[in-house]
Amino acid sequence: MNIKASVTTPATQVQSSASGGEAPFRLNEIIYSRSDPRGVVLFGNPTFTRISEYEWSELDGAPHRVLRNPDMPKGVFWLFWNRLKQGLPVGAYVKNKTKTGRFYWVFALVHPCDGGFMSVRFKPTTETLGQVQQLYAQLLQHEGKDARSPEDSAQALLEALADMGLPSYDRFMARALSDEMQTRDAQLGRISTARRDEIAQIVTLANEAESLLGKMSTGFQNIRAEPVNMRILSNRLEGGGGPISSIAQNYEAMAKEMGDDLAQLDHGEIGVFDAIRSASVTGHFAVLAADLAEEAVRELSQALNSGDRDRKQCDTEIRALTTHAESLRELADAEIRIISDRSGKLIDSCRSLRRRVNGLDVVKLMCRVESGRLESFDASLLGIIDRLDRFHGDIDACLAEVARLAQRIHRNARNFL
Ligand SMILES: Cc1cc2nc3c(=O)[nH]c(=O)nc-3n(C[C@H](O)[C@H](O)[C@H](O)COP(=O)(O)O)c2cc1C
Repeated sequence: MNIKASVTTPATQVQSSASGGEAPFRLNEIIYSRSDPRGVVLFGNPTFTRISEYEWSELDGAPHRVLRNPDMPKGVFWLFWNRLKQGLPVGAYVKNKTKTGRFYWVFALVHPCDGGFMSVRFKPTTETLGQVQQLYAQLLQHEGKDARSPEDSAQALLEALADMGLPSYDRFMARALSDEMQTRDAQLGRISTARRDEIAQIVTLANEAESLLGKMSTGFQNIRAEPVNMRILSNRLEGGGGPISSIAQNYEAMAKEMGDDLAQLDHGEIGVFDAIRSASVTGHFAVLAADLAEEAVRELSQALNSGDRDRKQCDTEIRALTTHAESLRELADAEIRIISDRSGKLIDSCRSLRRRVNGLDVVKLMCRVESGRLESFDASLLGIIDRLDRFHGDIDACLAEVARLAQRIHRNARNFL
């Protein structure tokens, strides 16, 4: 594959109203720039200047908005700045305009850094770009025709993403970044570091475990009536205060406590599954961003060797990018630790809950023994005990499955570092 050849963007490309055609942006290139807190350019690599068709002297001290393409909806930049102002990174598809009116699409990754922000961009080529282009065209139309505010437009963007099965912008940008990088690596003949599958799997595994937990909680709610009925029955059969009555009371208390503990697992300050999903998305995004920052360092080092830019300034940028990549890897490590910790605790909770199901089993067995001692046989009492039997079997199987899912989450988390 000729990596130097510019890869054309998807056929669904929405043409710029101010278009003089697409500016050549090669797949193996990285556009890097750094700004002050308002977005004023403080540094840009030679790729930044070449593709934008500006001289460095024209970009130095200029606002990044000189690159603004009129096809970009205001809502996207509202979201972009809203995240940056909160100290959060943002990943976004952006259509830019060159000095002579040509356009080029980038996937931009912008992070807060000392004294402002840094942006690393590469050429997007997945099908998502085509979907985003259509979405942006609709947003733009509403901003013009219906005078929709940038904030409302950003909201509409989030709603459209949710309709596509991506419930947050974090989920969207992590997925898009991962897919774009994986596709780019494949096109460039590189071994991919994007490892999308492991991360996507963590989210799926957490969803599965959460749904099993919900099922068990409902099971505990539904079973509550059984020991109560057992008590009523035993009062009739053996008179008040008989052994079955007190066993049933015991069972009721134990089952209630277990049901509450189970529900609590996912309803702490932040539920265990929300914590796992959020850490996996943040961690994955950080790992990929670190890979790109390191690629920007390599590109800048080459520019430095070619004597294209001021050496001292390039050195400063290389240091800044290297520190940035290191802190991203530390962040990813911390997120992985959260996943390991939470999934580890989940495994422990399953183990202890399974022991408590054994405890319930013993109580239920005592009930069966006592009911056998009764002079008058009662089918409804045995019916209750049989239902408890099945319930215990179901709960134990569910807990074993949740533990298995938690173990896989644990393993996958370590794999994507
Ligand atoms: C580090 C950094 C890089 C940016 N890169 C771009 C860019 O490549 N293209 C662009 O249109 N806006 C970029 N922006 C956003 C612009 O500052 C600006 O918000 C945007 O062009 C929209 O213009 P407006 O805010 O005046 O509506 C960047 C901002 C920052 C902080």
